[in-house]
Amino acid sequence: MAKVEDLVLPSVAALKPYEPGKPPEELQRELGISESIKLASNENPLGPSPRAIAAIKAALPELNRYPDGANFELRRKIAEHHKLPVDHIFAASGSVEVLNLLAFLFLRPGLNAVFSDHSFAIYPLATAAAGGSAKVAPTSDGYSHDLEAIAAQIDENTRIVFLGNPNNPTGTIYRRAEWKRFLATVPEDVVIVADEAYFEFVRDSEYPDSLEDHDGRRLIVTLRTFSKIFGLAGVRAGYAVARPEIIRLLNNVRQPFNVTSLAQVAVIAAMDDKAHIAETLRVNAEGMDFLEREFRRLNIPFVPSHANFILADVGDGRTVYDQLLRKGVIVRPMGGYGYPRHVRISVGLPEENRKLVEALGQILGPDARSA
Ligand SMILES: Cc1ncc(COP(=O)(O)O)c(C=O)c1O
Repeated sequence: MAKVEDLVLPSVAALKPYEPGKPPEELQRELGISESIKLASNENPLGPSPRAIAAIKAALPELNRYPDGANFELRRKIAEHHKLPVDHIFAASGSVEVLNLLAFLFLRPGLNAVFSDHSFAIYPLATAAAGGSAKVAPTSDGYSHDLEAIAAQIDENTRIVFLGNPNNPTGTIYRRAEWKRFLATVPEDVVIVADEAYFEFVRDSEYPDSLEDHDGRRLIVTLRTFSKIFGLAGVRAGYAVARPEIIRLLNNVRQPFNVTSLAQVAVIAAMDDKAHIAETLRVNAEGMDFLEREFRRLNIPFVPSHANFILADVGDGRTVYDQLLRKGVIVRPMGGYGYPRHVRISVGLPEENRKLVEALGQILGPDARSA
């Protein structure tokens, strides 16, 4: 009898599943360390909006019912927010769902997706899962998307370009002028995915909002998420904005109830909580300033970030990750992203940032060197 792996696409059989940040419960199970802090998945350290919690509680008695399969109120809310017709909005179980559906729709063996080296791990996974091949462009400086190099990879078999702006795991952005030049060169039958999961955190005046470039011609899909600034990673919710033909295709292949009822009510409530969003931005900006200052003091090189995480060169990322785990601090080693020297650290609450810096100081800083 044939091996089961031989019954699927070779690119699927060869895949290694996405490795998420380690949950604190796992650290407790593995090393018996309780009271750990997690700075590994770029989550909102403040927690969810209290309004979202209240909305979820109010929805609990209805859990015997299926969700609204059309995600109607949710899409209406998002459409209103962007002042767009509702048929431009696809609500999803996290933006990763859209990345997978786009690959499923537009790729197959013989076709390819183009993306940058050192970009979000789901791009190669989604591409391979659909049987497509990946064309990987070099970065400009080891960390940043080089849109010219990305455009140069596009050939007649390219169907998708995945762009993270800001990019995960580097926190770098491309700016408006480079983006406009890129748009002018990409063929009109290539789907340009502007993955803007960290959009709300960016303070750079030259940062382009891809929504402004949607027109009747180009195939731009803008992705946003409720997992980051909105603090709702656990309910899984995100969305795509695109022209209605693309939204219709996404609806053709999604599962019928892709956004849970709790996610729908939580997101609708969280979108109105301006105080929670403002407080998240404040905590992130102050935390980022603190981490940059402390990394300089400890002589730890880092990549200046526009998001809610920072890539730091700690010499040996895997070893420092393990040492931090033993001190109850969970970060993300970056070997899998091609950065064996680095860890990626999410900005936490002030006391969490202090605990991280103290632990890093003990491992790498002057204290460690003199010990
Ligand atoms: C660049 C990027 N895109 C998408 C996502 C996925 O977000 P979601 O939770 O909406 O699936 C992440 C999450 O870390 C991300 O970093």
